[in-house]
Amino acid sequence: MTQRAVYLETFGCQMNELDSQLVQGALTRLGYAFTPDAGKADIVLYNTCSVREQAEQKVWSRLGELKSAKAARPDLVVGVLGCLAERDGVDLLRRMPVVDVLCGPGELDKLPGLLDNAVRTRLALTSDGDGHRSARQVALQGNTSRRSGTLAAAADDLEMLDLSRAISPVDHHGTAYVRITRGCNKFCTYCVVPFTRGAEVHRPPEHIVEECKRLADAGVLEVTLLGQTVNHYRFEDDAAVSVNGVVQPQKGRSYSGGHRRDPFEGERVTTFANLLYRIHEEVPGIQRLRFVTSYPRDFGDDVLEVMRDCPRICRYLHVPVQSGSDRILKAMNRGYTTGEYFEFLDRARAHLDQPEIGRPLMVSSDIIVGFPGETEADFEATAALLERSRFKSCFIFKYSPRPGTVAFDRLPDDVSDADKRRRNNLLLALQSKISDEISREQIGRVFDVFVEGVSRKALQKKGMSHGEIRKAHGAVALTVAGKSVSGEEDEGCSSGACSTGASWVTDADGDSGPVQLSGRTDGDNIVFFDVPGDAAAYVGRVVRVRVTGADRLSLQGVHEETK
Ligand code: SAH
Ligand code: SF4
Ligand code: F3S
Repeated sequence: MTQRAVYLETFGCQMNELDSQLVQGALTRLGYAFTPDAGKADIVLYNTCSVREQAEQKVWSRLGELKSAKAARPDLVVGVLGCLAERDGVDLLRRMPVVDVLCGPGELDKLPGLLDNAVRTRLALTSDGDGHRSARQVALQGNTSRRSGTLAAAADDLEMLDLSRAISPVDHHGTAYVRITRGCNKFCTYCVVPFTRGAEVHRPPEHIVEECKRLADAGVLEVTLLGQTVNHYRFEDDAAVSVNGVVQPQKGRSYSGGHRRDPFEGERVTTFANLLYRIHEEVPGIQRLRFVTSYPRDFGDDVLEVMRDCPRICRYLHVPVQSGSDRILKAMNRGYTTGEYFEFLDRARAHLDQPEIGRPLMVSSDIIVGFPGETEADFEATAALLERSRFKSCFIFKYSPRPGTVAFDRLPDDVSDADKRRRNNLLLALQSKISDEISREQIGRVFDVFVEGVSRKALQKKGMSHGEIRKAHGAVALTVAGKSVSGEEDEGCSSGACSTGASWVTDADGDSGPVQLSGRTDGDNIVFFDVPGDAAAYVGRVVRVRVTGADRLSLQGVHEETK
């Protein structure tokens, strides 16, 4: 068989980016080749997001564009993976006969088999003159998705995808995602994620630590742990099921001394605090340990203490608040009040905010405006919360009714689009002012900066077009941490805040003279600074930078050793 070329495009959150990386690794091992050019591909895959209607529309328009490509090449295989596939199910095949493969996020381990079948079916359909028909290969969790929170046998096949992850130094550019929890059990009334990603399942700590070790051995310096509500991580050993489905009790861990002692010692439970501490202690090669997303409730002092005492854990929290009105929070089923949210913020800052040692705590958040029933007074309360919370950044979304959710079924979408837009713009302007102020507070401070690559400005100087930079950005899959949690696809790039990975350094540093690098503080502030000459020597390293200037999106500084 000739090697098949695959084009894979990813929409949505970091969870999806990780899924795409895992899929790419699995397919590469099976002999598929990946191309950044959809026009040259034999197989086009979209890993999709369903969180807001706008996210889905992007996929619909991509699929629409494929109609003519498929008419010209009936053997082309088109696959829709991810949350839209799971949410829309076979309706999607009906609406879009151009699609051959549907694979939900909980079934990605089955993708190679589906693709293989689809390739054969397409060839058969084409030779029978039925090229307009879909090859109809489907793997969705459907109504089996609410399995228990243990690693049930079926979920274990999916666990194999993470476990067998291909890790080579060229793949990661120094930074990598590691999943700790799949799915979500919260059922916020607006949210589609519990339906698309299924029940909350916590991965065994041994698997997570092992994966971190393998990444560190391959040169990864920064790991971001992923879960919808990471602080709910809790692994009970009795629930452990091995990859071949046999129940295997795992060794319990306990730590000597103070708060690090496992409060459930003897019960063989690993909490999120235990997990963070274990990774920090057992994988010192990871210089930066981050995690997203935190849930405002059930975030104990144990986690804050571990964060405070472990120098390689970043001082950064992404804690979406969603609204500043208790009435709306209740209707959203968030399970906390604004008072409790502030209590958490104050507690987190009391533990972790240490600007004097270059480690201010940076907090970011998400807000939804125009949730059903949101009055002007509710909105004002959200604006007041934003003012008081001092987020480094905050994503503001207009409420988008999602079929299948409680809000969609029971609450009329009664805030007009004009009001949603106005509220969205007002909050964006307010956050912009706050982000600018927080950035300026950093001037004069010295930070450890993890160098991610050559800045976009440097690439533009080199003569690369915006399109090429976008392509580079996509090709190296190095996204701005936190940006793609929930932001729209282009935000990272159009903000001017993106950087590219090491593979582009060689292109950019051919010139003599200073090169502008881009990196991140451990609080996730973007920093630009110049180095003389050989940029490649800096990428993937942590260096000291003194901040000399700032705007709302980024900091500018000078490399301490080159001053
Ligand atoms: N698990 C995370 C968020 C995951 S979804 C948490 O609970 O915080 C990412 C963000 O998308 C959410 O924080 C929310 O702000 C936004 N979002 C989710 N559903 C939405 C909807 N129906 N309309 C608008 N924004 C939505
Ligand atoms: Fe789960 Fe977050 Fe969605 Fe709530 S908003 S249901 S916590 S993914
Ligand atoms: Fe979107 Fe699914 Fe992530 S709906 S935000 S890709 S979990």
